[in-house]
Amino acid sequence: MGDVRIGLIGYGYWGPNLARNVSALAGDGVELAAIADRDAAQRMRAREAFPGVEVVEDGMALIQRPDVDAVVIATPVGSHHALARAALMAGKHVMVEKPLAATVAEAEELVTLADQKGLVLMVGHVFEYSDAVEYMKEVVDSGELGEILYIRSLRVNLGLYQRDINVLWDLAPHDLSIVNFLLGNEPQAVSAVGRAHVTPGVEDIVNLNLHYESSPLVTVVVSWLDPRKIREMTVIGSRKMLVYDDVSAIEKIKIFDKGVDRPSSYSSFGEFHYSYRYGDIVTPMIRIREPLSTECQHFVDCIRHGKSPRSDGHSGARVVRGLSAAQLSLQRDGAMVRLDDPAVRTVSGRIGTLSVESTA
Ligand SMILES: NC(=O)c1ccc[n+]([C@@H]2O[C@H](COP(=O)([O-])OP(=O)(O)OC[C@H]3O[C@@H](n4cnc5c(N)ncnc54)[C@H](O)[C@@H]3O)[C@@H](O)[C@H]2O)c1
Repeated sequence: MGDVRIGLIGYGYWGPNLARNVSALAGDGVELAAIADRDAAQRMRAREAFPGVEVVEDGMALIQRPDVDAVVIATPVGSHHALARAALMAGKHVMVEKPLAATVAEAEELVTLADQKGLVLMVGHVFEYSDAVEYMKEVVDSGELGEILYIRSLRVNLGLYQRDINVLWDLAPHDLSIVNFLLGNEPQAVSAVGRAHVTPGVEDIVNLNLHYESSPLVTVVVSWLDPRKIREMTVIGSRKMLVYDDVSAIEKIKIFDKGVDRPSSYSSFGEFHYSYRYGDIVTPMIRIREPLSTECQHFVDCIRHGKSPRSDGHSGARVVRGLSAAQLSLQRDGAMVRLDDPAVRTVSGRIGTLSVESTA
């Protein structure tokens, strides 16, 4: 099978990580064919890091190159739809950084287009390619934790402040994609409250409640205004509890045999005692690879074998739907918003166009 030639658009903060991982696949018949960035300083950095790769200014021109089979898009969210659409129209497979698009309508249009053209559309939900998250999914699916009662996720640190989106659209795509992946579902309803402390009108702290049909309540806190970097998800089951700490180098997952039971029957208050279980704490040995490397390899495998990616366009659209519902809830002071509310389709994550248009 011939080489898969990949063009990268966007060489800012995240693009260099994608360039490094794509070029690391060279021995596997993958070529980093070209890099585009509209910023001259970023182009200079790209040329220094990848002297053999052509570096150009215009992302749209990169898309049209005949020596590019697939395009990876690592630009700000406001440009995802236009670039991904142009790439699909040009017959190129596409991997877009998270979130897939700034509105549900944009995301759905990309999904339809990719289906019509028979092209791979993948979104960079990088944590779905993390060995620790995959392990956590196996534990949840095995029933070891019992019935999942609730999940709490904390994703906070100082910055990095974004100019075109608030903290919800920057960080919560990760939590939504992980929890949707774990539960094999998307939330039915969402409520969110947030505050903008540093940039007026741009929330830098958001507390999110996600309601899933299978009943577990999921609480997510995302913040750019916190002294420590915390990436922690706690899954509380009826039998055991699991803590996933992505910042920990070697102990990413801990399973606690802890819980609390009510007496099955009692006839007087004196007989009523909760019993607390304090069992073993297990830290499984997990082989940890760089998730972005697994993600890039998966993109190439899907192109070669005509497979649908784990984080395909549908998965990307589900995350955008959750973000849009949360954005609408922020605008409605924390009111519960159902994901099937028609107004959700009209919300945009782009700063400056954070508005709900009339659906009448
Ligand atoms: N998976 C992760 O953990 C992770 C982490 C950081 C960022 N991201 C995602 O990566 C994307 C980029 O984020 P970032 O922090 O690198 O942004 P950034 O602003 O640092 O970089 C974006 C780059 O794209 C360039 N660009 C914008 N439009 C362009 C166009 N039309 N043609 C060519 N170049 C263009 C800009 O000049 C800039 O250098 C976002 O979608 C973000 O959510 C993902």
